[in-house]
Amino acid sequence: MYSLYIVLKNGVDGSTWHSGYVQGIKDIEGSTSLVFSLKEKVGALVDALKVFQHHNVNLHHIESRPSRTDKGEYEFFVACDNQKGGLNEAIDELKTASKCLTILSRNTEDNIESGMLDIFDEAFSCGFTDPVYRARRKEFADIAFNYKHDKPIPRVVYTEEEINTWQTIFRELTKLYPTHACQEFNHVFPLLIDNCGYRDDNIPQLDDISKFLKDCTGFRLRPVAGLLSSRDFLAGLAFRVFHSTQYIRHPSRPMYTPEPDVCHELLGHVPLFADPAFAQFSQEIGLASLGAPDEYIQKLATCYWFTVEFGLCRQGGQIKAYGAGLLSSFGELQYCLTDKPELRPFDPIKTAEQKYPITEMQPVYYVAESFESAQAKMRAFATTIPRPFSVRYNAYTESVEVITKKDQVINLTRTIKGDLDILEQALRKIK
Ligand SMILES: [Fe+2]
Repeated sequence: MYSLYIVLKNGVDGSTWHSGYVQGIKDIEGSTSLVFSLKEKVGALVDALKVFQHHNVNLHHIESRPSRTDKGEYEFFVACDNQKGGLNEAIDELKTASKCLTILSRNTEDNIESGMLDIFDEAFSCGFTDPVYRARRKEFADIAFNYKHDKPIPRVVYTEEEINTWQTIFRELTKLYPTHACQEFNHVFPLLIDNCGYRDDNIPQLDDISKFLKDCTGFRLRPVAGLLSSRDFLAGLAFRVFHSTQYIRHPSRPMYTPEPDVCHELLGHVPLFADPAFAQFSQEIGLASLGAPDEYIQKLATCYWFTVEFGLCRQGGQIKAYGAGLLSSFGELQYCLTDKPELRPFDPIKTAEQKYPITEMQPVYYVAESFESAQAKMRAFATTIPRPFSVRYNAYTESVEVITKKDQVINLTRTIKGDLDILEQALRKIK
């Protein structure tokens, strides 16, 4: 299981973003990753190590370097054993000495490749050392942590500074949508303007969008603080639930964010969740993930990456973008339709094995002929996943049924037969 959901693409201005589920960090029991900074001085590394030694915490991996964005600070990435010793006490001690400490994940494998600090470089440069921004982020995190299913998503009064950031992005991206986005996206976008307050001077509210999506396709938004495992994130899709961040990127760099923010979710993802065929396709990936072994979760997350995040499609003889990572990135939205990247037909078996860079624009994109065809391919791929049961989403009860008994199959057959009867009657009445 991959532990970090950091969807990060290329900046709206074309600068480099990190992208994707962070590769190389696999969840296992017993490990926790931290990023923190300490004042730069001779022996800073020794001081950091002493804290762990003092609390008998074994380290699986450590990186350190002078901060590239905050002079006078030294940054550390560590993966710690959380089974022995006092990790919580060590974290508490580090918090008192650190200007910036972030717990990146629980349960991180001990074979992390070097360069993790580079991966989180942008996190440091985009507000994680700004105490005002961090306090604001905590407000959003509290909303997510306290949220209960089926309750209204708390409305946020965004500050003028936050709205200005949104405005910059909104204005730039909406210039490209008519020529670069797929038809379905451009069909839905005006509806979001009419129904959900999509304007350059207003950051739409998750609750309004969630209600709109529910009416369109049954999809709902659930606020999330930012980090989710692939398994949890994909499981949400099975229930037609999309986990959405609510905070906005740091105002210092409006055209760039090192992690998914409300601009990425609302401009990149939301429009297509209102499209029935895309909603079906997304749910198909989610349903395939339920009960799947870890290696297949990785394959499904990769398919998700090359479709929902960075997918292209063929429409009227042209290539258009439908991936949220593209539709929320001014730079990559233009780049993806040039002749620079390689385009390949979407084929889950092959796509699931494709590696992708996390610090630059994608060199390879996968092209779907349609959402229906992509859904059919995902469904066929799902049959290759070893699991002893089949699942079906029941839209009436908004639950997933695990089909293991003959009676369930008989009931399902009756339901399908009833639907076919309705279809036959409708066809007869259509002249
Ligand atoms: Fe995303």
